[in-house]
Amino acid sequence: MDFGVCYYPEHWPEDRWAQDAAQMRETGISVVRMGEFAWSLFEPERDVFHWDWLGKAIDVLAGEGLKVILGTPTAAPPKWLIDERTDILAYDSQGRPRQFGSRRHYCFSSSAYRDETVRIVTKMAERFGLHDSVIGWQTDNEFGCHDTVRSYSPAATMAFREWLAEKYTDIDCLNQSWGGVFWSQLYRDFAEIDLPNLTVTEPNPSHVLDFFRFSSDQVLSYHRVQVNIIKSLSPGRSIYHNEMGHFTDFDHFALGAEVDVMGWDNYPLGFLDQEPYADNDKRRYLRQGHPDFAAFHHDLYRACAPKWGVLEQQPGPVNWAPHNPAPLPGMVRLWLHEAAAHGADIGSVFRWRQAPFAQEQCHAGLLRSDGMPAPGLSEVKQCVEEQISLTPDSVMSANVALLFDYETQWMSECQPQGDWSYLMMAMGWYGVARSLGLNVDIVRMGQDISNYALVLTPSLFHITPPGLQAFKQTEAALLFGPRSGSKTAHFSIPDELAPGPLQALFPAKVVRSESLPDWWQATGLFAGETVTGRHWLDHIEGDVAPLVTSDEGDGLLYHHGSAFMFATCPDDHFLRTLIQSLLRERGVETTKLPDGLRQRVTDQYKYLFNYGASPVSLPTDEDTPLYGEDPLRPGGVAIFSRGDVL
Ligand code: GAL
Repeated sequence: MDFGVCYYPEHWPEDRWAQDAAQMRETGISVVRMGEFAWSLFEPERDVFHWDWLGKAIDVLAGEGLKVILGTPTAAPPKWLIDERTDILAYDSQGRPRQFGSRRHYCFSSSAYRDETVRIVTKMAERFGLHDSVIGWQTDNEFGCHDTVRSYSPAATMAFREWLAEKYTDIDCLNQSWGGVFWSQLYRDFAEIDLPNLTVTEPNPSHVLDFFRFSSDQVLSYHRVQVNIIKSLSPGRSIYHNEMGHFTDFDHFALGAEVDVMGWDNYPLGFLDQEPYADNDKRRYLRQGHPDFAAFHHDLYRACAPKWGVLEQQPGPVNWAPHNPAPLPGMVRLWLHEAAAHGADIGSVFRWRQAPFAQEQCHAGLLRSDGMPAPGLSEVKQCVEEQISLTPDSVMSANVALLFDYETQWMSECQPQGDWSYLMMAMGWYGVARSLGLNVDIVRMGQDISNYALVLTPSLFHITPPGLQAFKQTEAALLFGPRSGSKTAHFSIPDELAPGPLQALFPAKVVRSESLPDWWQATGLFAGETVTGRHWLDHIEGDVAPLVTSDEGDGLLYHHGSAFMFATCPDDHFLRTLIQSLLRERGVETTKLPDGLRQRVTDQYKYLFNYGASPVSLPTDEDTPLYGEDPLRPGGVAIFSRGDVL
């Protein structure tokens, strides 16, 4: 893994740059990511370009042997441009233009903005594309951050109509697919269709789903505009984009097909604070982050592209969550080691030096705002020194796969029912498997899953023919969560009822579904233990017998052959017990790890990460670790060589 840092030379006097570059090199950093917010300096007025300062900064860094990933500056179009072309602005769901004054105020569908993008990216790539030190380009910055994938602008309305016309060709086909006969919503022409916002009550969910799909496609086609220019003017350089955590508004598998390195930005503490984790977890992991947050995203983005990495790693407190605690000593080192253990190509910290001005002045850097070292700096250095040679090839294929599906997330959002969150459920299932010491691969629907012992599908609303085919072709145990196969591609109930096409593997029907309040729970017995289901209850009839029945007599878990289906959302204990028993039957042993401890096994090393709040004794059956003390303190990392094991 290369170590990197995000650096904004434009924030500091030029006579500081050489010292920064030397200190980066001494720390063991080899890649610097820069440039992504500097449009108003690059082009202070139309067609007046100032590239020399960036050229000088790159040369100073190159003087210390540092390589550069350049970000295109399109996440922050400057004021003069917005004043000239107001049709660039995105609109929020309340129909208001999103104003200049922060960032990401553009609409992906604005053709004016696409023209301006071509102009600035071309100029930048002409100027720096062949520079020896430029090894890669990041398109834009965090597509979709600040809720910007879905824009409700006039430009988006026009583009959506075109997208629909291309998809359906015939307006009657759209009417039929959306069920437009309901509430008098038959259209005569694609030109009549508006965006699904500002309606009196719930808009047609098929309309919403298509708008979500359209919005995702707009991100991709916008990204492609930049990639085509960069590829032609900067040959041989890698294309990066930095994705976010907990973010599903566009299809990341599709974007992954159009980058060389799928980057993501790892902010474990901010996300623990702002996302709906259990209160207990928020307390327990305040300064560590949720133990599965980083790993889930590492494995998700690893599944998207041939290479992946962390482009922004939290270095200390951030500024943007409601509360921003400091990480425990050692966490920056732990997070970077964990990225390496999952096969990251790069681990880059955001940012080099804390800015004393503007929006992110409460956000730590590796240096404090006065230029002196902050705690993260020595942790990066230590991690570099401890780095063992791990290549992406050392990432072993796992016994367990978890199927993640962006459309299922969109379908669950376009007609919300109860407290059901697909993303949190997928992360929860992933965490349960990891708490058993398992490596987990994340896969997409239709991917070959024949090499796994167990495939976890927390839910999958619509099952495509290739998806069904892949399920049929594996001997793995298949474990499905509720609502699987419950919708058609157009978001209707399938004629044959849920689980739709899965009936080929699981001969039963869901004849009634209930969403239930937070306090509801159903308990039953499984393997001699009390297990609990929550949030949801499917009533299943057919040629399948319940494996677990609730005290009230409702089936909670059914199976047929190697297909298992939950009628409810299982609690962790229920799921863990089932996973253990299914894997045991297939010869895969599992160990329940102590609370907060996580493990990752590569072909030659075994890593232990202590996210917990208490010290943990190291396993006695291992040799002395290469790194890590016994007991392993909270925030500690232990690395064992498995050289002899294999
Ligand atoms: C990311 C973003 C960076 C910076 C950072 C602060 O979302 O890409 O530009 O704002 O957050 O944590």
